[in-house]
Amino acid sequence: MHLPDLNVAKDRTKKENIYIDLNENYNKVFSNKKYFLRTYGCQMNVHDSEQIRHYLETLGLKSTDKIEEANIVVLNTCAIRENARDKVVGFLGKCKYLKKNHEDFKIILTGCMSEQPDFIELIQKKHPYVDVVIGTHNIHQLPKLLINNNPKQDIEVYSNSDEVIENIQYARDSKISAWVNIMFGCDKFCTYCIVPYTRGRERSRKPEEIIKEVKDLKKNGYKEVTLLGQNVNAYGKDIGEKFSDLLEKVAQTGIERIRFVTSHPWNFTDEMIDVIAKYKNIMPYIHLPIQSGSNEILKRMNRRYTKEEYLELFNKMKKKINNVSITTDIIVGFPGETDKDFQETLDVVRKCEFDGAYTFIFSPREGTPAAKMKDNISLKEKEKRLHELNEVVNYYANKSNQKLLNKTLDVLVTGVSDKDNNKLCGYTEGMKLVNISGPKDIIGSIVKIKITDAKSFSLDGEYVDER
Ligand code: 5AD
Ligand code: SF4
Repeated sequence: MHLPDLNVAKDRTKKENIYIDLNENYNKVFSNKKYFLRTYGCQMNVHDSEQIRHYLETLGLKSTDKIEEANIVVLNTCAIRENARDKVVGFLGKCKYLKKNHEDFKIILTGCMSEQPDFIELIQKKHPYVDVVIGTHNIHQLPKLLINNNPKQDIEVYSNSDEVIENIQYARDSKISAWVNIMFGCDKFCTYCIVPYTRGRERSRKPEEIIKEVKDLKKNGYKEVTLLGQNVNAYGKDIGEKFSDLLEKVAQTGIERIRFVTSHPWNFTDEMIDVIAKYKNIMPYIHLPIQSGSNEILKRMNRRYTKEEYLELFNKMKKKINNVSITTDIIVGFPGETDKDFQETLDVVRKCEFDGAYTFIFSPREGTPAAKMKDNISLKEKEKRLHELNEVVNYYANKSNQKLLNKTLDVLVTGVSDKDNNKLCGYTEGMKLVNISGPKDIIGSIVKIKITDAKSFSLDGEYVDER
């Protein structure tokens, strides 16, 4: 991909002088100021926002959810689907207006869009009032950029940096469940996907650094860690390590719950399944995107497995891991998808009876091979397929939830329910959301909950007091 030259820092030696020691007394500069942070996209972005929040708060800024009150607005963007850009551009319009009446107002863009050359060009040409664009590889430079306070537009995007930064600090959203990055980037190059271009090559963190982070989290009272990677089970290939070994070491820290997302079927080994089955604190939950049930489409997606291979892996997991929940991602309307191909997808959903699925209409992403493939399916047809798929997906999600009715399950209570403030919410081992009737002091604990109602997307339950 081509990066526009203007202002874009391609010289990686430049980064040396851009680190700052946040222990210095910088927070005076920013005390009395507020920030507004909006995050789009996946868990990786959510976790990056925790890093951004740490920097802003260490510099003395306070969070606000009223953008009009903010001095710094940070937008952490996602590029996975096309309509995301319209949302960001719409939001920038609002920021531009606010900036006109506010002399102390900075706009910062980061996330996957900031790694897209055509987006950078758009910001340079049409949105000069944006103060900083910072890439996904170099978020750690944000404090320095804020302190430098460059009156001109600053574009700091070190695309394809193979650097792995350790010891990153986070202002975590939860005190109960924590994200832990174990690797960055993706080497798979699925033909529809922008991620390998925006997040760069696969790079793994050192196992000892990951274990240190998990141990610290445990010491600080965290009950759950979710190991994060675009392709989490490809961990370690670049540094001669194995995901199964890492998983085992994380399990041996004794942290109560371990999860990991997202797994690629191609990288799932028997050893991984055995480790998951062996340790009680590794949750029996696997998110295993299939994307399509048609071998022809899978081939054109460059997914590296067939429907039959996926089913074999799926059945092995079901057999070896007690009560495992498996969810998936599915794309409909990939270029050239025939009705027969689509029926194969429905067939695989019926065979697997997934606990849940995220379903998407194919969205062409500029710069990816699939964007150039001939796409002769109408939007109406794609919407029809999505609707039909969702009906089947929801039927099986509901069916798997109904099986839990009247059972008493271990649930990690994570907080107050979004929908009903009188209720709490939490997750079963199989990652089912439960709305709970129970006392507030169970928040942060793993407790027994009796399931009283089951819907397609959540369960209702009552706290079983064993105290
Ligand atoms: N169009 C539609 N869906 C996509 N995904 C990734 N790229 C695209 C695209 N171009 C979906 C995949 C992936 C999930 C995170 O988003 O299903 O697993
Ligand atoms: Fe995208 Fe495929 Fe990598 Fe997932 S595995 S991030 S879908 S390229």
